Amino acid sequence: MIPIRNTERKDLRRIHTLEQIIEGENAASRDAIEARFDLCSDGWFVVEMNRKIVGYVEVVRYEDFTINTFEDIRDFSRISDPAGENLYIIFLAVHPNRRKRGYASWLVQNVIWYAKKQKLRKIRVVAGQGLSPLYEKLGFEVIRHLPNFLPISTGTEMELQLY
Ligand SMILES: CC(C)(COP(=O)(O)OP(=O)(O)OC[C@H]1O[C@@H](n2cnc3c(N)ncnc32)[C@H](O)[C@@H]1OP(=O)(O)O)[C@@H](O)C(=O)NCCC(=O)NCCS
Repeated sequence: MIPIRNTERKDLRRIHTLEQIIEGENAASRDAIEARFDLCSDGWFVVEMNRKIVGYVEVVRYEDFTINTFEDIRDFSRISDPAGENLYIIFLAVHPNRRKRGYASWLVQNVIWYAKKQKLRKIRVVAGQGLSPLYEKLGFEVIRHLPNFLPISTGTEMELQLY
């Protein structure tokens, strides 16, 4: 059993630390993570083992937006709509020492159950390079490729239609 639960505000410090380990100087600031959490806190999940957060997923509800590059969504408060019928996966991360054990898939699976419970229409994500198979296994379909998503890498816009 993978120990997963809803994210609580007290987890944000440890989420920030993990994000710094994974993203280095590109990591979001603690304030930015706090602000994102406030947008859709009940849809966030963490995997916690021995009191350590080893994985997390961040989401935001939205109604509609177009995405070509990361700059289009950098300010998540702009695309956020708490009453929106769709869910966007902002970030999914697992500690480098705990990868390839299904934690990320389990985090996304819990997001899918959450979205279904909320009767949301679809879940959208931009998969980083090489990560489309992870989402495809969970039922997501490729919408389009985003060649300029980040200055150094491409992305693949993917969607899971729920209703
Ligand atoms: C992407 C990430 C969250 C995957 O975490 P994980 O717990 O290792 O993923 P899972 O164990 O659930 O893997 C699910 C499937 O995706 C595949 N996969 C996972 N990471 C992959 C990678 N980096 N490249 C290619 N395939 C990958 C696995 O092979 C697995 O398939 P399998 O079941 O056939 O073995 C983790 O590598 C990470 O934190 N990366 C840095 C942050 C990042 O890029 N986030 C994604 C933003 S879209």
